[in-house]
Amino acid sequence: MCGIVGYVGSEAALPVLMAGLTSLTYRGYDSAGVAVLDGSTLQVVKCAGKVADLAARLADSPLSGSTGIGHTRWATHGEPSDVNAHPHIDTRGDFAVVHNGIFENSSDLRERLRAQGCLIRSQTDTELFAHLVSLHYRGDFEAAVKAALAEVKGSFALVVASRFHPSTLIAAKLDTPPLVIGIGAGEMFVSSDISSLMRFTKRVVILEDGEMAVLTPKNVLVDLFRAEPVVGRRRPANERVLSVDWPADIAERGGYPHFMLKEIEEQPRAIRDTLRDRLLEDGRVAIEDFTLAPATVRRARRVIFLSCGTAYHAGLVGQYLFEPILNLPVQVEIASEFRYRQPVIGLDDLVVAISQSGETADTVSAVRRVQERGATVVAITNVIGSTLSRVADHVLFTRAGPEIAVASTKAFTAQLVAVHLLLRYLAQYRPHQHEKLLYQLGLGLRQLDGVVEQVLQRTATIQAFAAQLASHEDVYFIGRNLDEPIAREGSLKLKEISYIHSEAYPAGELKHGTLALLSPGTAVIALATQSDIYEKMVSNIQEVLARKAWVTALVPEDESELEAMGVGTLRVPRVNDLLAPVPNVVTLQLLAYHCGVARGCEIDQPRNLAKSVTVE
Ligand code: F6R
Repeated sequence: MCGIVGYVGSEAALPVLMAGLTSLTYRGYDSAGVAVLDGSTLQVVKCAGKVADLAARLADSPLSGSTGIGHTRWATHGEPSDVNAHPHIDTRGDFAVVHNGIFENSSDLRERLRAQGCLIRSQTDTELFAHLVSLHYRGDFEAAVKAALAEVKGSFALVVASRFHPSTLIAAKLDTPPLVIGIGAGEMFVSSDISSLMRFTKRVVILEDGEMAVLTPKNVLVDLFRAEPVVGRRRPANERVLSVDWPADIAERGGYPHFMLKEIEEQPRAIRDTLRDRLLEDGRVAIEDFTLAPATVRRARRVIFLSCGTAYHAGLVGQYLFEPILNLPVQVEIASEFRYRQPVIGLDDLVVAISQSGETADTVSAVRRVQERGATVVAITNVIGSTLSRVADHVLFTRAGPEIAVASTKAFTAQLVAVHLLLRYLAQYRPHQHEKLLYQLGLGLRQLDGVVEQVLQRTATIQAFAAQLASHEDVYFIGRNLDEPIAREGSLKLKEISYIHSEAYPAGELKHGTLALLSPGTAVIALATQSDIYEKMVSNIQEVLARKAWVTALVPEDESELEAMGVGTLRVPRVNDLLAPVPNVVTLQLLAYHCGVARGCEIDQPRNLAKSVTVE
């Protein structure tokens, strides 16, 4: 997804912008560009392709100047091309703009601006903003940007530079795309992503919805650009400075060939951190700053999990855990569909929104809809200061650390742990008969990091299996009960990372249609780790074997029945069934990773995908 950087100070801007852009590339992008002000000269260089292509263009004539903006673009309006890359300028080249998100009224604006004589060079909606600022400019940069902001609708974050004001940048944000200001000494930074600021400063201000910020080397002034609720508020940014304790090289790979592998291997730590100081000795749960009142928990008549992609699979796992223990109806909803339905929502609904980034537009919008109807929203998210964390009524942070690879791994296992913590928190305030089970699960949670370490030690076996799987073009994942959402997650990981076509089904569902696709040699990965339903799973595997499919089963290490039947197996540590999703998914993450490597795929930035999906 698009990334923004900006710098105003006394150092050369270009190296700062290029370092910022490089650390944003993990988000997925198709073009990049910079604009640097050298006195009153505005210089723009941009191109389709990678940041390395941009660096090559700049190699011969680096831009001098100590104010600038940069961008990595992920195409929404107009194909990836040099002309559509950001920054965009107005007709005379007085103003340059970088922008994430969408202006919804761009068609009307385009026609009007053309009629007014503007030279529109690109197919983007972003360029229109540069023209609007130029048309409104009467010597007051801030007033011109504010007037332009009054004319655009949609959801966006943007930064504007002007050759008339070489020591000023103006940033603005509406709705979901994030924008963060980094406070330095005699220099200011702006970025769409906190992690890209960490090599420059740990002191940040997160822009709120409807705010604009005027950045000069020594000062940042934050103001509202929309009339409501307070007009003309000017709060010095230093009243809102947060200190972020992330290492400077947080966005770097630390010696691993890929971020994805680094993040897979960080899972024991992510699990430990997410549990730390929260799962108490006596098995009770205490979540810092968690304000969900016991009365609200007792009043709940239904739980609704809301999320997208991998985070949706965490919700599916939650359903299998919450229903039997809390004795509450549980719904699991894909946010991008749910937000356009007319769901019946009420005051007694407890909505659990799960999102690694906390910026997924569909999830945030769905949350706003349920809040309008009176539901209470608990967010499970990995990013402090993210939109979801600010919109939700109560927040439980996963502590996976920044996730850079596009494919989610450690954030997912941290989400599973957070779902367990939330389950225990809710169980504290509701009558139930599952003390013993919760006690056992508490013990299991404490050992989960070690269990994941054991899975990581099996990498060589998983890699050898991946080498065989890599030559297949179709793979089916099947599972039952808590193995079913993990079959889905394993399948999603495989398709994202290796581009192998893959599908996941509840094992009992195959015979209702999909079995027709199995032919001799078709690869099937059968998850058989749920003891209650194990025998049923064996029957499903036999159905598949009868069609001469190439079956590999994921089984607990002490299970040998399937092997005796001649089925290839991948062994996972034996844990309580309700915790099995964790070792199972780590196994499947490694499988997808090694398949992707074997097929020569771009692991950290799979084609067509973006890390943070801030468009609908
Ligand atoms: C897949 C993946 C995506 C995300 C989805 C939601 O590996 O990462 O499916 O899970 O885009 O993102 P968040 O969790 O940021 O809301």
